[in-house]
Amino acid sequence: MQAWVIGNWKQNPATSHDVNALLDDLCAAISTTKQMSHDNSARCQIMVAPSLIHLAAVNGRLKDTSILCAAQDVSGHSASVGAYTGECSAQQIVDAGATWTILGHSERRQYHQESNDALLQKMIHALSQDLGVVFCIGESQAQYDTKQTLKVIDNQLAVIKEFIAQQPELIEALPTRLIIAYEPVWAIGTGKVPTVAEVSATHKHIKRTLAGFADSLSNMTVLYGGSVNADNANSFAADPMIDGALVGGASLKADSFLTIATAFSQASI
Ligand code: PGA
Repeated sequence: MQAWVIGNWKQNPATSHDVNALLDDLCAAISTTKQMSHDNSARCQIMVAPSLIHLAAVNGRLKDTSILCAAQDVSGHSASVGAYTGECSAQQIVDAGATWTILGHSERRQYHQESNDALLQKMIHALSQDLGVVFCIGESQAQYDTKQTLKVIDNQLAVIKEFIAQQPELIEALPTRLIIAYEPVWAIGTGKVPTVAEVSATHKHIKRTLAGFADSLSNMTVLYGGSVNADNANSFAADPMIDGALVGGASLKADSFLTIATAFSQASI
């Protein structure tokens, strides 16, 4: 199975100048680590999700490379155009060159109160424009402490079940256009990580749950996210249930990001 390593740049870097410097480093490091060799990029797909304001420029610089570009969110109001100040539609994101979007990141859920209903609309808009979706799920510290992880995840995955019920004509797209990213909220940006065994068991549950929604979802890609770095990537990559990583902080340095990608591409040999 092809691994995925995705850099979620969040509200970084600060300026276009800094974005270009990061891309310079990324492209230079890729040519020296041979990460871009045909075999390696086939084994591990690298993608970056810049801030919306930088999306078109980043895509312009990466369009002749094997690195894909994603947005971090899409409008839930409309897939195309409309009177929605401050929003950006799935169609506009595709037009800017992105082929994927992250949806349901815990920071969106926390700061923008994104509900399952809102996420369902966003997912419908994205997939109707053939924008792939990296759907983030995960429990809070309190939920982890009280052993509610699987219950929380089941509730979040209900969005996928409802999507299938409402959009049966789009179900065929899901195996290749939907990725799940399991990100315990307490592990994001904290340096704390669950054990590989815990992540593996949770991923097994996620995969089994998705397979229960539809036969075609029996082999879905499930990434781990939350304080993945150059030092711990190998241990996550070694587990066959972990199909890649969604990386925040460590994706803002080309070296650490590519070390993580190399760990997953080596593990999938
Ligand atoms: P982190 O962020 O790698 O900085 O913990 C991950 C994420 O929020 O996707």
